[in-house]
Amino acid sequence: MRLLVFLTCLIWGTCSLAGDSLAGDSFASDNLLNNSGDMRQRLAACSSCHEYAGDSQQSYAPSIAGKPLEYLNQQLLNYREGRRLNSVMNTLLAYLGDDYLYEIAGYYSTLPVTDVPRNSSAVKQSSAEAIRGKTLVHSGITGPACSACHGNDLRGDGVAIPSLRGLSAKYIAAQLGAWRTNTRRARAPDCMKEVANMLTNDELSAVAQWIAHSFEEAATPQPNNVETPLPCGAHK
Ligand code: HEC
Ligand code: HEC
Repeated sequence: MRLLVFLTCLIWGTCSLAGDSLAGDSFASDNLLNNSGDMRQRLAACSSCHEYAGDSQQSYAPSIAGKPLEYLNQQLLNYREGRRLNSVMNTLLAYLGDDYLYEIAGYYSTLPVTDVPRNSSAVKQSSAEAIRGKTLVHSGITGPACSACHGNDLRGDGVAIPSLRGLSAKYIAAQLGAWRTNTRRARAPDCMKEVANMLTNDELSAVAQWIAHSFEEAATPQPNNVETPLPCGAHK
């Protein structure tokens, strides 16, 4: 029912702004919304899960602030076309046009990347698991290091590789699992599918937990590699 209301208000542009709390929103998103016509209304449905500032506070829904424009646009198309499966996102985007989605991607891409670890207050990993997670991120074990593509600070490359900051462990693990089972696909060659398949189940869990808890340890930015260690169709 809630979904139906979202959908109706998206299509007919009748989303009510009453009761929308802007309290948690950043200065950047407020400024942008005030200068961008109908964007606030357009994003009313999205903000209940992703916030106007794109820094979702929910236990699963991902942060989307500051992810690259092309990456975000590609994900919206992926949901609309069924290359990425999630019933809420598939339904919400089913009838939205290319230009409309591109403008939404543009809005979120200009916001600052969230810097709050999503699970900072959750139970910490055991030290062995944390070492394994950190090794996977910075050195790699069977496959390449995550940082080789996502950057040493995990903020992505600003072009097609997304930031991993502010994502929950549950979401990161689910995405790696989705690549393995073909319920998430990116443009071929799909390097993330290869990366996900090179992780054991324990490694998958350790790396998801480490990123969600500890990315501040990896906060030193470094120039992003132009060459990725595996070819990525998304990174053309
Ligand atoms: C009911 C909650 C909910 C609503 C409303 C919602 N989303 Fe989502 N969104 C999610 C969840 C959950 C995911 C991750 C799903 C998955 O596992 O693929 C997601 C994923 C995304 C992604 C991919 C993020 C990434 O990092 O790859 C984008 C972009 C996005 N949503 C944009 C939007 C937009 C734009 C709207 C409004 C039209 C919207 N969402 C409405 C819950 C929601
Ligand atoms: C060879 C380059 C490369 C390597 C290595 C790599 N990634 Fe990625 N990653 C990508 C690209 C490209 C995307 C965007 C894919 C798309 O367009 O859907 C991505 C997307 C992701 C996403 C989706 C983010 C979101 O917001 O939905 C997650 C999670 C992720 N990577 C985790 C990891 C982890 C964990 C590692 C290390 C074990 C890793 N990646 C290593 C290139 C890489």
